[in-house]
Parts: sequence; C-alpha cells; structure tokens
Amino acid sequence: MDTQPNALVTGASSGIGREIAKQFASEGYDLILVARREEKLRELASEIESIHARNATVLTCDLSQPQAVDGLCDQLQQQSLQVDTLVNNAGFGALGRFSELSADRQTDMVMVNVVALTRLTRMLLPSMIQRNRGGVLNVGSIAAHQAGPNMAVYYATKAYVLSFTEGLREELSGTAVHVTCLEPGPTETGFGEDSGMGKLDMFSSAAMSAEDVARAGVRGYLKNEDVVIPGWMNRLMVTSTGFLPRSATRKLVGKMQSA
Ligand SMILES: NC(=O)c1ccc[n+]([C@@H]2O[C@H](COP(=O)([O-])OP(=O)(O)OC[C@H]3O[C@@H](n4cnc5c(N)ncnc54)[C@H](OP(=O)(O)O)[C@@H]3O)[C@@H](O)[C@H]2O)c1
Repeated sequence: MDTQPNALVTGASSGIGREIAKQFASEGYDLILVARREEKLRELASEIESIHARNATVLTCDLSQPQAVDGLCDQLQQQSLQVDTLVNNAGFGALGRFSELSADRQTDMVMVNVVALTRLTRMLLPSMIQRNRGGVLNVGSIAAHQAGPNMAVYYATKAYVLSFTEGLREELSGTAVHVTCLEPGPTETGFGEDSGMGKLDMFSSAAMSAEDVARAGVRGYLKNEDVVIPGWMNRLMVTSTGFLPRSATRKLVGKMQSA
C-alpha cells in the first residue's frame, strides 16, 4: 500500500469492535472509531496512540437514526479521511417474543444491524474499488444459518449480513478489495447482558473471549477469507445445522431460547 492504511470500526466502544480496532492497530493501521459512547472511544483512542503509536480519530454517532450514516460520511469528508477498511461491527440483539418486545427496539435493531451497515458500505465502497485496495469486514453471527424463535429479528438481521456479504464478495472477485463475514458464536461482551441471552446455558457455557474472536476475524479479513467462524464448537454447530431440515433447527433453537 502506498500510504498508511486505516480502518473505520463501528461499535468500537466495547466488546468485539474494541478488540478488532486493537488488532488493526497492531497490524499498523490508523483507526477511525465510531459508536455512541464518546468517553469509551476516547479511552480506546488513547490506548491505541500510546501502545501502538497509531492515529485514532473518534466520531460519535447513533446508527439507529436515519440520517446517521450520511452525517458520519460528512464528518469523514470534513476531516479529509478516506477509509481503506470498513468494519461493520455495531449491532445488538433482544431475547423475547416478537409480539412482546418493544417495536422501537426491534426497528432500531434493523436500522443498526442492517440499514446502517448497508448504507455505510454503499458510501465507502466506490473509493475502495477505484483505488483497488482495502475492503469490508462485516460482523454477522452463527445465528445467520437458521431462524431464531424468541429472537426472530436478530437472527433475520444476521442472515441478511451473511447473504449481503457473500453477494458483494462475488461482485468484487477479480479486484484487490477484500470482503469477509466474521460469524462469532457466543462471546464475552456486553451483548449477553444487553440482549438477555447471557442468562441462557447455551450462551454462557460456550462463550469465547472477544480478543480471540477479533483476532480470527482480522486475520481472516487480511487473508481475504469469505466467512470466518471462530472456535471449533461454533464451526461444528454451523456444519451440523446444514445437515438438518430448517424446520428442525428452528424448533431446536426455539427450545434453547425459551426463557
Ligand atoms: N457477543 C456475542 O455473543 C455475539 C455473537 C455473535 C455476533 N455478535 C455481534 O458482534 C457485534 C458486536 O457486538 P458485541 O458482542 O461486541 O457487543 P457489545 O459489547 O454490546 O458491543 C456492541 C457495540 O455496538 C455499538 N452500538 C450498538 N448500538 C449502536 C448504535 N445505535 N449506534 C452506534 N453504535 C451502536 C455499541 O456502542 P455504543 O453503545 O457506545 O453506541 C458497542 O460498541 C454485533 O454485531 C453482534 O451482533 C456478538
């Protein structure tokens, strides 16, 4: 690469996004850190600047808001920041029946997990293609591979992320632009408590560290792998899902996720 590469990471204020940002910093990337909690982002920026001697820019943004991505892109332009690698990591889930969970929370979930991810990719990808460098690392989930009763919207958003990433990857084959989907299974972050999933046995007994998940994701992205599933248990789960009818897997997941 002719200039210092950079990576914009959404949801960098905690969990997997925070660790992905640190991994890219240790690979020599400058960082653009995005989330709502400015103080957390500033702490991480200082850590990146002092430990890894890389530049880190903080941009606060609520990605559930319809104009958020355009506002973020305006800020990038004002600061003359051109993004090489986009990491669409921000996301959240909510355990419960669709008809009982808040309509606003579930709509916000689609805005953050799907709409913002799609729009930000559309805004930043053309310059990557033009320069024939960089790429997109989307954070999906092993939830992408089956329907998820009692968490129906979350599973559907992650199925979108996988399908979108695979389609994009094919469109960009033959270019140097990388496109990778990271699919974590249960991971020790704020997600478990925030979504309500943390209290489930299937979650707490199998959780990996955010650092291990991020390391696998960044390595896979740098090698331009299509889908990265960290942890042998998660890979086994996804593989065995492929052998069962969808009607069976959704029943199984529904049982495991009944509170
Ligand atoms: N942990 C797991 O078990 C697991 C498993 C599979 C997939 N994943 C996926 O991994 C990704 C990261 O989650 P995590 O596990 O690291 O959870 P986390 O610790 O709760 O982090 C979520 C991140 O998303 C950001 N975010 C949430 N809503 C936002 C909004 N409206 N606008 C901007 N940023 C927002 C949060 O930042 P602010 O609150 O500061 O805005 C935070 O930085 C998500 O896409 C999640 O679906 C997690």
